[in-house]
Amino acid sequence: MTRGLFITFEGIDGAGKSTHIARVADLCRARGRVVVLTREPGGTPLSEKLRDMVLHEPMDALTEALLMFAARREHLVQVIEPALARGEVVLCDRFTDATFAYQGGGRGFDWQTLGQLERMVQNLVSLGHGSGHGFSPYPCDAVGSDLALATQEPPLRQPDLTVWFDLDPTISAQRLATARVPDKFESQPVAFFAAVRAAYARRQAQTPGRFARIDAAQSMSVVGEDVVRVLTDWLQAQPA
Ligand code: TMP
Repeated sequence: MTRGLFITFEGIDGAGKSTHIARVADLCRARGRVVVLTREPGGTPLSEKLRDMVLHEPMDALTEALLMFAARREHLVQVIEPALARGEVVLCDRFTDATFAYQGGGRGFDWQTLGQLERMVQNLVSLGHGSGHGFSPYPCDAVGSDLALATQEPPLRQPDLTVWFDLDPTISAQRLATARVPDKFESQPVAFFAAVRAAYARRQAQTPGRFARIDAAQSMSVVGEDVVRVLTDWLQAQPA
């Protein structure tokens, strides 16, 4: 069976990524792939309710981070993992890099704690892969042979490719000024988005092979051409 592919799209608000996702879907379908288009926070009825809360209610930074990961866990279990198991292509508008960028960079929330939540929520064993062990993210829960498993870095669900629409926040601020009524994040100042952008760059530096950076300051049509070129090359390079 064809291997499932997990592709995520990231960038600060106003970077224009959502416009290009439909084109990527067409590219994948033209290659005979079944495509699931989804987004975070959201993607399931429960995760969409959580989205509504985190985007509109003021809340503590840890509460915000936990709700992002709670929505993600549900999304992984209900939508992403089943689609990948069926060999489909999952195109997801934002994923965990957004939590590191917005909650970590923008809000200044502790990076290591976010890493712990990432390991808990995206642990492949807990998502039904591997040896059939139950959900045991903490070494202290482990007994006997589980100990070796639990003390190693757990294998995580991560995107196969992350397309990062990188943009100077002063440009995105100009674009957002004419956009719809802003949500809680979109109404943040330029300095917030500068920190979000820097955190995306930090994530890219940690796993450069997973990222394709697109210069989102270019015109919409040139950005679209870049996206198509990157995706065509990347899809071509994937094993059947
Ligand atoms: P969207 O408008 O691109 O759908 O994204 C929703 C907002 O949620 C956007 O401002 C970024 C923010 N967000 C976070 O703060 N943390 C996250 O983990 C995710 C997925 C999104």
